[in-house]
Amino acid sequence: MAKKENAFRGYDISTQAVHTGTDYDMETGAVRRPLHMANSFKLPDDLSQVNYSSTDLLMYARNGNPNQHWLEEKIAALHDAQDAIVLASGVGALHALFWTLLQSGDRVVYPNVSYMAVYRMFHELFNRKFGVETVMVDMTDLDAVRAAITPGTKLVHIETPDNPTVGVTDIRAIAELAHQNGALLSVDNTFASPLNQKPLALGADFVVEALTKFINGHGDAQGGAIISNDLETMDRIRYEAQVNVGSVISPFNAWQIFRGSVTFPLRMQRINESTQQIAEWLETRENITFVAYPGLKSNPGHELAKRQMTNGYGGVISFGVNTDDKTVERFCAALKVVTFAVSLGHDESLIFPQPSYDERIMLYPEKFRKGFIRFSVGLEEPKDIIADIDQALRAVGL
Ligand SMILES: Cc1ncc(COP(=O)(O)O)c(C=O)c1O
Repeated sequence: MAKKENAFRGYDISTQAVHTGTDYDMETGAVRRPLHMANSFKLPDDLSQVNYSSTDLLMYARNGNPNQHWLEEKIAALHDAQDAIVLASGVGALHALFWTLLQSGDRVVYPNVSYMAVYRMFHELFNRKFGVETVMVDMTDLDAVRAAITPGTKLVHIETPDNPTVGVTDIRAIAELAHQNGALLSVDNTFASPLNQKPLALGADFVVEALTKFINGHGDAQGGAIISNDLETMDRIRYEAQVNVGSVISPFNAWQIFRGSVTFPLRMQRINESTQQIAEWLETRENITFVAYPGLKSNPGHELAKRQMTNGYGGVISFGVNTDDKTVERFCAALKVVTFAVSLGHDESLIFPQPSYDERIMLYPEKFRKGFIRFSVGLEEPKDIIADIDQALRAVGL
């Protein structure tokens, strides 16, 4: 598919978030592009050149829709990249990438801490169903990574900061190790977001963003993106995964995310600042056993995060409370400003306990195995969030 030149390349990310992908509506002159819910588009008179498995032509919604394409222009711009593919969810984007790149007999190296669906895909699905060799490794241990990436490895996948321990992985170093062995590197950048981290500039080949989170930012639409400068592989992903597997985004969700993304840099800046403030407060609060946030000087990943996260450290903190699983639940339920729900990157703060019986708990560093909570900071006044956490801890006797 022909890529539209980014007319705002070189402008600040906040200017690009407002202007890329926007234009006048051709028909009415409206300064907002319309929502096109059509499933089907008028075909050319001569059908001899039409490839029904491609995305070159607007013909059927699964081959692409205008709202998807306008959002793709913007997401590519946020990463200073040449191309982006927007799909139905973050997991849909991860799957589309892995499905296209990997085949039986290939080797993939993946992290011991990652989003649940990545763990499921590599721990039990791609290996069992398709005979892909999947090797789990601690990505913070570069010697272990070096040993795991043998010649012939097809793909290394990392997530930084990771979900749910907010650990930091060295993108540049792992890109070098991967490339020395002919492997590709993909990075799930959801926790950092493109305001704070641009993995392509650090050597990654593919970036995945769950648009559902900070980029949409309002908790009301699901979407995911693959971002890359490898145009040939991107076209393969469109053909093999979007059109022929089918996790295309609905035009309405693309329209919602396009609108949410306009304020993304502004919201993310505020979230970076609030999260830093709350993490520093949590470190001083009694009965908090640990605080994991790359912006804290005490964090083992802080110096690395300073190098690769250039505008801030994101909106997720993991912390421990000195109590049992049941009391952690009671604490979460006692919060009034913070919402007790899964997900992250919304306008409202969200909290989600990681119980000690979670099947992956033994993969995390030891301190994460008791009273572990993932906390996504929203747009509320940070002092109100702090007061809320404090009162809820007191309410359960902590
Ligand atoms: C790091 C990360 N990647 C991917 C995803 C998946 O995104 P989605 O829920 O839109 O499929 C999530 C969701 O929480 C996530 O945290």
